[in-house]
Amino acid sequence: MSQRIQHGARLPDVELAYLDAGQLRTVRPDLIFAGQKAVLIGLPGAFTPTCHAKHLPDFVAAWPKLMASGFDLVAWLSPNDPWTQDAWATMVDPENRLRRFSDGNLAFARAAGLISSASAWFMGERCQRFSMILKDAVVVHLSIEPNDTTLSCTSASAVLEID
Ligand code: BEZ
Repeated sequence: MSQRIQHGARLPDVELAYLDAGQLRTVRPDLIFAGQKAVLIGLPGAFTPTCHAKHLPDFVAAWPKLMASGFDLVAWLSPNDPWTQDAWATMVDPENRLRRFSDGNLAFARAAGLISSASAWFMGERCQRFSMILKDAVVVHLSIEPNDTTLSCTSASAVLEID
């Protein structure tokens, strides 16, 4: 497994995916986050209890505060396909406040050393639950939950406190 990404490192040069008017597109994190102050959260699963009821809604609700505090972009990734992500976002982020990226091949999570085994929940390998503050695609802060099913240090209020 790769070493965990460190503060001061650039994001891994891997492909993430998203849907644009129903078409699958790929993009590299460097391009997404270049020139931006951003927060990126890692969600282990679409529709899973903590991701669905807590983590994603927490950032959707905090989006105005995050923008007011100087972030240009709030984004999330998860190890789901982009179609599942879009269906989920329709429910949880109907105003499309956050950008979403599929790490369905786990390329980002592997390269960043953020893989978690969720086989106990029949979910195979996933990303850990994390939040990152990025400046110009460089990691300036990284928080990882000690347990993927809980939300504490990776919440929006924790990001706003650090910033
Ligand atoms: C969740 O509730 O979000 C969750 C459940 C099992 C594994 C990872 C996340």
